[in-house]
Amino acid sequence: MKDEIGCYPFHQNETLKLFQVKFKQNDSTESGILHEEIAMNRRKLCDHVYEVGAIDWNRRLFDSLIPLPDGTSYNAYLVEGTEKTALIDTVEPGKTDQLMRKLCDVEHLDYIVSQHAEQDHSGAIPAILDKFPQAKVISSEKGKTMLTDLLPINPDRIITVSDAEKVDLGGKNLEFIYTPWVHWPETISTYLVEDKILFTCDFFGSHYAASELFTDCDPVVYEAAKRYYAEIMMSFRSVIQKNLKKIDGRKIVMIAPSHGPVYRQPEYIINAYKDWISDSVKNEVVLPYISMHGSTERMTEFLAGELAARNVKVRLFDLTVTDLGKLAIAMVDAATLVIGTPTVNIGPHPLVFAAANLANILRPKFRYISIIGSYGWHSKAVEQLVNLVPNLKAEVIEPVICKGVPQSKDFSALSALADKIAERHKSLTKQ
Ligand code: FEO
Repeated sequence: MKDEIGCYPFHQNETLKLFQVKFKQNDSTESGILHEEIAMNRRKLCDHVYEVGAIDWNRRLFDSLIPLPDGTSYNAYLVEGTEKTALIDTVEPGKTDQLMRKLCDVEHLDYIVSQHAEQDHSGAIPAILDKFPQAKVISSEKGKTMLTDLLPINPDRIITVSDAEKVDLGGKNLEFIYTPWVHWPETISTYLVEDKILFTCDFFGSHYAASELFTDCDPVVYEAAKRYYAEIMMSFRSVIQKNLKKIDGRKIVMIAPSHGPVYRQPEYIINAYKDWISDSVKNEVVLPYISMHGSTERMTEFLAGELAARNVKVRLFDLTVTDLGKLAIAMVDAATLVIGTPTVNIGPHPLVFAAANLANILRPKFRYISIIGSYGWHSKAVEQLVNLVPNLKAEVIEPVICKGVPQSKDFSALSALADKIAERHKSLTKQ
């Protein structure tokens, strides 16, 4: 419900409430202060193009799964043509007040471009449609169905666009590029023709909260973008290849995703994506494990030492304490996955079960997998784990499972496993 000055109330922002009160009570000088405050909160990409979304400094988990050590942002972009105005994406529903504050002096909004129907970008669309009764949502055909499935939006207020279709705002043309499966089937990107800005929503995004709008070649943002890729995009490598081809050759001055900073050197993130989705793998082993009474841990540490002695890089992740985002990042490039598990009853430890399932969902480009661990009286952990990862299409190198604590024959078997892994990795680097 609008207040007396045509703004939605700011439920959580007392400072802005005070500004509203002053604005209502005083003359146009106060009005100037309010508008200055709004302008300060917008972040300018170029003339008549602003970032107007919300920064979520304190969010620590996404999808109730992957930790966000650096928070995140839900970017929304206001593009003002001489004739029409468009908003590209919105924000997480709980951050609607921040978006509304930055749109408070917008008198007329013609379009809300919904590049992706997931609620962290579409959640504020119903409120925006209420505030601007003449506005229409622009989406892909699939996007229309998904938006009406997920949100209370009248389908009559959604217009669909085809691949490469343009909308002229007056001196600012928006071209819609179908870039599906990054990471839902309906996703599109938007190219602002005159300013050569590519808006990509989740594609190229990073969970990284920052007051500064732009990034150049910051390694911290690189890691956040890789974490994002690993969790959200990695399963769709082949489609991403096609999407990258669609934007190849196009002059791009900025890539503006809907999470994290805007890239002023687009080739930095494009080249990173090309590396991550490539078929090549690195001479690395990822080794997530659990140990209950120390046997599996001894085996894990011994194998890690043997691999290192053969110049194979290895990353260990104790699943009782690990950041799943770090584990996912390590999976992006590695040639081999080795899973370490004790046996609980006759199967793998439940946390190992979950990690293997995650690997199967994320579909990293592992070429080889193996399993190490121990059991008390009987184990079917190997069969159960292999059956859990059918998506990996990787060769299974003979597992090493010992009864009780590892003995010298078990350590010999681990050395042999390290030999096999190192040998296979050598053949990969020769390809
Ligand atoms: Fe950022 Fe798929 O939502």
